[in-house]
Amino acid sequence: MFTHSRSDFPQGFVFGAATSAYQIEGHAHGGAGRTIWDDFAAGPGNVVRGEDGALACDHYHRYEADLDLLQAAGFDAYRFSTSWARVMPDGRTVNPEGLDFYDRLTDAMLERGLKPCATLYHWELPSALQDKGGWRNRDIAGWLADFAETIMGRIGDRMYSVATINEFWCVAFLSHFLGHHAPGTRDIRAAARAMHHVLLAHGTAIERMRGMGLSNLGAVFNMEWATPADDRAEAAEAAALYDDYYNHFYISGAFKGRYPDRVVDALGPHLPDGWQDDFGTITAPLDWAGVNYYTRSIIAPNDGPWPHHNSVPGPLPKTQMGWEIYPQGLRDFLVRTAAEYTGDLPLFVTENGMSNADTVAGGVVQDDARIAYFQSHLAAVRDAIAAGVPLKGYMAWSLMDNYEWALGYEKRFGLVHVDFETLERTPKASWHAFKAMLGGD
Ligand code: FCB
Repeated sequence: MFTHSRSDFPQGFVFGAATSAYQIEGHAHGGAGRTIWDDFAAGPGNVVRGEDGALACDHYHRYEADLDLLQAAGFDAYRFSTSWARVMPDGRTVNPEGLDFYDRLTDAMLERGLKPCATLYHWELPSALQDKGGWRNRDIAGWLADFAETIMGRIGDRMYSVATINEFWCVAFLSHFLGHHAPGTRDIRAAARAMHHVLLAHGTAIERMRGMGLSNLGAVFNMEWATPADDRAEAAEAAALYDDYYNHFYISGAFKGRYPDRVVDALGPHLPDGWQDDFGTITAPLDWAGVNYYTRSIIAPNDGPWPHHNSVPGPLPKTQMGWEIYPQGLRDFLVRTAAEYTGDLPLFVTENGMSNADTVAGGVVQDDARIAYFQSHLAAVRDAIAAGVPLKGYMAWSLMDNYEWALGYEKRFGLVHVDFETLERTPKASWHAFKAMLGGD
């Protein structure tokens, strides 16, 4: 159990749990189109056991029971995402079944008193758009805005909030420079273009949705604390560069209309022509910002190609992902984000959680390590609020075990256990801990 209670947080503080479309829905159903994750999973060595999201948690058919679990725990909100390929299988043409699904899902949330918090893009780019260059192609800004208009034309009237992009760094850098996520590109030029275009697409979609009269619009930035591996000046510089291209680049683009010097110095030649002229769109005003936080990295300089550094193992206890447990980073990021970028704008923790090798024994999943993780990170949230951060909500990742991208179904992040053979759901001890804190039924 947590030592926190609802009354330890400000009046109206929103507690939610998060998921994303491709990770849970089952893309074989409902006329969804092929996505870059289906293609990536089909490539050799990209995903553990070559697993994909064809069935996932079969949330497409089981969403009502899944939403019941959110309601029963006493959550106020559900952060979900809308699959572009479900709504527009080729990225451009509407699939009515896809719109109908998100319409049903929205009403099912409202029936349960859950605030619908939508994210437009959580990584399942339609393959047909990848064929046209995907995030390397500047036209993606208009394509994303068209998708935003289509899906929000149907469900936007009932959303509590809408975010454009989930985790800009992952969409651009992880997927186009490091090649660890779809489309699996390892190309500095592709990466630089994706880094800029993902922000341009974000701003273009915001402008389009604003024009439709939608409100409470935001975006979700992932942040990873960077700690130098040792006392050398080179290590400090390496960590500062990591911090710049991982953490500052996107939020600085969106809120300050500029990119960090260290990143422009290295990637400037690869950015698309005229990038400096796009900040009017990229800085389209937002109503809130989301921070996703999991861990920190220990950064050591090396002699390799740019960025001339790598992550090395740290001394702290680790999750099943091998990620260090470092709650201080969450508090520090929230304070820094408000101080440097967002000021009085409402902030939300839009993801936070850990994977654990959970097993069901006698109908019980005793995930004490996860309870401890949430306990310490909720304390960090309270510290940030006490320091004056206008934090308005916290979303746990994730409602249930799901498709953990390149790691397939092996890494379990859920508050609810999913048996991927039978698809049976079993609430874990951490779900019960949230329920006790939130006053669920
Ligand atoms: C985040 C992603 C989410 C999930 C968690 C563990 O980077 O947004 O989909 O994979 O990590």
